[in-house]
Amino acid sequence: MVLYDPTKIPGDVYDTHTHLNDDSMFHDVAAYIGRANEYRVMQMNVVGYDLQGNQRAIEIAEQNENVYAIVGWQPDSTNEFDDEKLDILKEQIKNPNVVGIGETGLDYHFEGFNKNKQIDSFEKHLQLAKDNNLPVTIHMRDAFEDVYSILKKFDIHEFIMHSFGGDQKQAQKLLELGGYISFSGMVTFKKANNIQEAAKIVPLNKMLVETDAPYLAPVPYRGKMNEPAYTRFVVDGLSEILNIKRDELAKITTKNAQTLWNTSK
Ligand code: NI
Repeated sequence: MVLYDPTKIPGDVYDTHTHLNDDSMFHDVAAYIGRANEYRVMQMNVVGYDLQGNQRAIEIAEQNENVYAIVGWQPDSTNEFDDEKLDILKEQIKNPNVVGIGETGLDYHFEGFNKNKQIDSFEKHLQLAKDNNLPVTIHMRDAFEDVYSILKKFDIHEFIMHSFGGDQKQAQKLLELGGYISFSGMVTFKKANNIQEAAKIVPLNKMLVETDAPYLAPVPYRGKMNEPAYTRFVVDGLSEILNIKRDELAKITTKNAQTLWNTSK
């Protein structure tokens, strides 16, 4: 295992969206955090997606310094999201380790989804975020129009479009609402021209980086299992696209995340 050379890249990195709560990583949380730290990925948000995912996110954040929990129900899991689960969520956000709501949103990609149920859940999450003044992490796939109009309707400004996979036009509209755009390993993929062009119009103070581990490993690990340490390679790829120094981008995106989730060290 070759360590990331800290003499070349001293700036700390913040993985704003990872799933150490996923079965594939939960058994070895300490090792993933340790390796992330070797790569100078020093802070991370563990993001929930269902009942167990949220409980685990909180547990991990409670047990590890500089790791924070975000809780919510992903669109794919909204069939199980009911009033009782909403009450649990309301209790969970009182935990001091919880810094945001999510992931929530709309995903119309796979057939058989329940659109009304997704929208209902999304709106409840947005209301919760608003009532508690918490940033909301949004998962959006093949659903830009609905996501956009609902954000507008709820007058939500403090949101993160996670693992952004849209184009320049979409990025522009989300930025106009006040949102942050978070880039994952997808931005490093060879054919991701749309995402790369979109990145060029995102102001640096609205930019975040993430892994979405265990999914979407960046180049040079594309196709392999992802982990928080690889946020480093998202920063590398993105800095090349934007033609700015890697260390500078690391510092700016880390500062953005710390400010947004109130997690300054
Ligand atoms: Ni995710």
